[in-house]
Amino acid sequence: MGVSRVTATCILTVVVATSLAVLTPGARGLGRDDDFPPGFLFGAATSAYQIEGAYLDDNKGLNNWDVFTHTQAGRISDGGNGDVADDHYHRYTEDVEILHNLGVNSYRFSISWARILPRGRLGDVNPAGIAFYNRLIDALLQKGIEPFVTLNHFDIPQELETRYRGWLGAGIREEFVYYSDVCFKAFGDRVRSWTTFNEPNLYTRFQYMLGVYPPNRCSPPFGSCSGGDSRREPYVAAHNILLSHAAAVRNYHTNYQAKQGGKIGMVIAMKWFLDPIFFGDYPRVMKEMISSNLPKFTPEEKKLLQTNKMDFIGINQYTSIYAKDCIYSPCALNTYEGNALVYTTGVRNGKKIGRPTAFSSYFVVPQGIESAVMYVNDRYKDTPIFITENGYSQHSNTNMEDLINDVERVNYMQCYLKYLSSAVRKGANVRGYFAWSLVDNFEWIFGYTVRFGLYHVDFDTQERIPRASAKWYRDFLTGSSLKDDTVQSLRADS
Ligand code: BGC
Repeated sequence: MGVSRVTATCILTVVVATSLAVLTPGARGLGRDDDFPPGFLFGAATSAYQIEGAYLDDNKGLNNWDVFTHTQAGRISDGGNGDVADDHYHRYTEDVEILHNLGVNSYRFSISWARILPRGRLGDVNPAGIAFYNRLIDALLQKGIEPFVTLNHFDIPQELETRYRGWLGAGIREEFVYYSDVCFKAFGDRVRSWTTFNEPNLYTRFQYMLGVYPPNRCSPPFGSCSGGDSRREPYVAAHNILLSHAAAVRNYHTNYQAKQGGKIGMVIAMKWFLDPIFFGDYPRVMKEMISSNLPKFTPEEKKLLQTNKMDFIGINQYTSIYAKDCIYSPCALNTYEGNALVYTTGVRNGKKIGRPTAFSSYFVVPQGIESAVMYVNDRYKDTPIFITENGYSQHSNTNMEDLINDVERVNYMQCYLKYLSSAVRKGANVRGYFAWSLVDNFEWIFGYTVRFGLYHVDFDTQERIPRASAKWYRDFLTGSSLKDDTVQSLRADS
């Protein structure tokens, strides 16, 4: 039985003046051991480019984000970049220590491809890159923290961008298989959980449809870029990613899984990516709508996908929005949804779907995590599920007291975990939960203007300061009593 019990009033987060409408019946205790199965992974997540810094250290090659942030700083809200970020490359021992203090049993991080293979498979493996991740993995294991490793979280060596036009060139598939093989060989004796890609459905949209991420390719009306084809290229890139994924999974299953005993999956942000992986083809409606712009799988490729299903599904779940099907009744489509005939919005009849966060399109909708998990669980037949990211953002220019005493984040985590535990009770095969993020970090095109960390980071001094949410999470995970006044008063308010 868990010693840690917390109460959460999970409110429907529509705020009208000062009134808060209660959505769920009453407050209910939540306990790590009572509400989640044994062996459940509880962790925090980060990604390489967002925290490591050290962008030129120890023979690391330049990656697409290094080049983009340096050449097009105007596209980043504050002109920032990941050159230093959280300086995690040099401070990883401290970061492992704060993970340990949180009481997590797992840590999700990604490997920087350009640190391992600065020039892709035609160059050498960089021993310093291998050594860094070996040190990190060993330090985690010494603290009883299981590494949960993502092979690709948005960053690719710039050389591959140039050589293959990034994910548009089929040649990059072989590169990914080679890179993942190097990682399985080097780290697989200690890493039991691998994910190939992070959110490729979102990433390809940002890269090749809206053109806001490198290599900034798009066409009107989706965006204004110097080159690109928003109706075709995102699908070409996604196709290459799906086939890279399947080939890497086949290699892992064939050559590593039996001796290393690990599992491999992919992290998605919902939507259509899972159908090709599980059923070997794109959804029928997608094929009809996108028709000739959607690449076709050959019979061999279909077989590759179908026979190399992944072992688990990673879901990044932050928010929910309203969606209206525009296939049968015409509606005003927004370009953000690309070619999908769907209208999405966070506001209906003048009311927001949940309380707003620093991200204008992210609202606090805790019940959405349960629906998302149940949907995936039903559709993909009980494949184990991990919530690989879930988190709450604050504006960096919020006053320091509120940044640290992050009551809203505590409420967010409590409520999302409560609905996650409800999905577990209803039979969903959920195996883990990772809070995004361990520390404030470089938030892509928003630079350092928003903060997702359980730990506040002073980017001048690199000091990590535990927020109320870090203390709450530690309390939930370890049952250790909280001495901190801010958290106690926050508790009294809930
Ligand atoms: C990404 C993270 C990002 C987070 C918050 C996710 O889509 O995987 O890299 O920081 O959302 O925007």
